[in-house]
Amino acid sequence: MAKAKALWVYARRTVLCCVVLTVCGAAAAGQIRYSIPEEMQKGSFVGNIAQDLGLEAKALSERGVRVISRGRTQYFALNVKSGHLITAERLDREQLCGRAEKCLLNCEVIADDVMKVFRIEVEIADINDHAPNFQAQAMELKISELTAVGTRISLPEAHDPDVGVNSVQSYGLSSNEHFSLDMQSGPGGVKYPELVLETALDRETRAVHQLTLTASDRGDPAKSATAQIRVLVVDANDNAPRFAQPVYKASVLENVPRGSTVVSISAIDPDEGSNSEVSYAFTRISAQGSQVFSLHPGTGEITLVGDLDYEETAAYEMEVEAKDIDDLSARAKVLVTVLDVNDNVPRIEITSLFSPVPEDSAPGTAIALLHVRDGDTGLNGEVSCSIPDHVPFRLQKSVDNYYSLVTARDLDREQVADYNVTVTARDRGAPPLWSATTIAVQVSDVNDNAPAFSQAAYSVWVSENNARGASVFCARAADADWGDNARVTYWLAEGELQGAPLSSWLSVQAESGAVHALRALDYEQVREIRFAVEARDGSFVSFEFY
Ligand SMILES: *[C@@H]1O[C@H](CO)[C@@H](O)[C@H](O)[C@H]1NC(C)=O
Repeated sequence: MAKAKALWVYARRTVLCCVVLTVCGAAAAGQIRYSIPEEMQKGSFVGNIAQDLGLEAKALSERGVRVISRGRTQYFALNVKSGHLITAERLDREQLCGRAEKCLLNCEVIADDVMKVFRIEVEIADINDHAPNFQAQAMELKISELTAVGTRISLPEAHDPDVGVNSVQSYGLSSNEHFSLDMQSGPGGVKYPELVLETALDRETRAVHQLTLTASDRGDPAKSATAQIRVLVVDANDNAPRFAQPVYKASVLENVPRGSTVVSISAIDPDEGSNSEVSYAFTRISAQGSQVFSLHPGTGEITLVGDLDYEETAAYEMEVEAKDIDDLSARAKVLVTVLDVNDNVPRIEITSLFSPVPEDSAPGTAIALLHVRDGDTGLNGEVSCSIPDHVPFRLQKSVDNYYSLVTARDLDREQVADYNVTVTARDRGAPPLWSATTIAVQVSDVNDNAPAFSQAAYSVWVSENNARGASVFCARAADADWGDNARVTYWLAEGELQGAPLSSWLSVQAESGAVHALRALDYEQVREIRFAVEARDGSFVSFEFY
């Protein structure tokens, strides 16, 4: 029956949650159109053929009504009892029609008796039986931290074999502070997501951003898929090194050995890899400092390569620089204070010496002027001087580390003619350092001693008839003094014997004190001669009598 008529067929499928099926009867002659959702069970109702063709259901088999599908596969079958067109197998729209917007299957109903062919078109409607799918669930993006705001980076699309609202409809991005999502239309109206940089990145603040990209369809119920996007922020050398402190201070004993570490400086560059490598150098250092200190360019260790001397330089001020590969730099100060060590022995210098000193000098007479020096400071440089107790001298402190050595008592050359006075200078360091010097003090003679005979009187016996000029005696007087003061001369004191002066009887040799008889003596005439010999030194006279 070729009739142009519109047919609306409603079928209810309680199992499939009341899916409403719409069948559009074709306007064309002999064409009937049904619509069923995909994925229905085999044997599901498609349409009431008998009714729609105006045939008696019972008569269908008698009249030899058959269903023939074009192509090899029989998708549909006829239930001759009920007169319904049913599915011959489970129908998957995506398999049958792919991405085609409309999925139409055709079959023919042939009624043998009347030699009639009815064309039947069945639309397989899409159901949301696929979720969107990303090819990779995780991906990494490397983005330089210097990338300009507004830069767009394309993201992978998700695929959904369903069509229409059941296929991918929208994308979403997890909330974050740097990126937004924008859709771009590619050729053929394909929409793909793009990441848009909204605020500048900084690797030093955050090196990795974890984003979640969601693709959703609008099926009922809606399905979605997610992909994890790891954004690795690639370092750029956008940071200069920074010193941990603006000034490095160190105190070092002046006697620390070469090779010792004085101080270590350190600068941090927040960049990564070679961008964070820092090298160190002195930017300001005195000529003297550069001979004493060395800075390791890699470690920032300042070591001693020369000798420190507090007395020469008590402090060093240097400036150092830390630089990265692009010459981004920072500066810091290094202050090294040299600490005094008691390494200087006090030195005694004899500025003037008045020696020999006359033995009759009054106590308090200055003999020497001394100056003591000690290069150290504080107690290390505080010096005191001393001399032994047993010498007749004392030290008198004068101004400015000057001392004078003065006599403390009367001197007597005849007792001690020279002194070795040891002056000891000692500082107050711990342990103290000291030195000593010996001052040779000579006591010069003063004629303070008279010549003295060992006896007040001497008796000598002389045989008579001596030869004239014979030696009779030798007078000897000792004089404790020295030199001319001790040179004694002798002479005969005046006197008479038997009316003749003694000098006609005896002579005394002035230098030796030898007494000679000037006449031959006669016992019978002279039994005894009493005479006196006088002795005298340079300035002192002594009379001695026999
Ligand atoms: C003083 O020292 C000198 C040189 O060491 C020495 O010859 C002399 O005998 C010493 N004098 C005294 C009184 O010790």
